[in-house]
Amino acid sequence: MSLRLGDIAPDFTADSSAGKINFHEYLGDSWGILFSHPADYTPVCTTELGAAAKLKDEFDKRNVKMLALSVDGVESHKSWIKDINETQHTTVNFPIIADEDKKVSELYDMIHPNSNENFTVRSVFIIGNDKKIKLIITYPASTGRNFDELLRVIDSLQLTANYSVATPANWKLGEDVVIAPAIKNEDIPAKFPKGHKEIKPYLRTTPQPNL
Ligand code: BEZ
Repeated sequence: MSLRLGDIAPDFTADSSAGKINFHEYLGDSWGILFSHPADYTPVCTTELGAAAKLKDEFDKRNVKMLALSVDGVESHKSWIKDINETQHTTVNFPIIADEDKKVSELYDMIHPNSNENFTVRSVFIIGNDKKIKLIITYPASTGRNFDELLRVIDSLQLTANYSVATPANWKLGEDVVIAPAIKNEDIPAKFPKGHKEIKPYLRTTPQPNL
């Protein structure tokens, strides 16, 4: 059965470019992002891993551990990392799982046979510090991911995990947020002392509460 939001992210132990990794131990008390790519030595994947490496500090700030995956082996990953570092002017500073036996890819349903039987698609799983899956996105091989967007989503997930709010379309850190429909009008002043606007009875906004 495929994984759904709220499920515990399945644990695994696998080889990686940084040695053997147990996923849950690797995550510890942190959040995590697990993202697969189709293959080493391919152009889009090279740009993606370079872009992800350049944002490592941003993921660290949010307490999110990064972990990439493809079905290529450890030696392939290690030599490809040299190419990524050279061509993308960065240093890949997170492990890449070497899922040659496809154990993890199958566990996370990262192989979509109608797309390609042999390679993982560009799956993204964001996992909370409670080990539950908070977000699943799937991109085709032909479309590189936007890692700034993934940081934006993490900002929303981490905010909404702690406050009774939701984030509107295209929201970015620092912008007003939506008060959760479950909050009664009379409870708003105590919960959101920065004030609020009632645009419609069902659309109430407030400044981002944790700033
Ligand atoms: C790429 O990463 O460039 C790629 C991988 C598989 C299919 C198409 C593109």
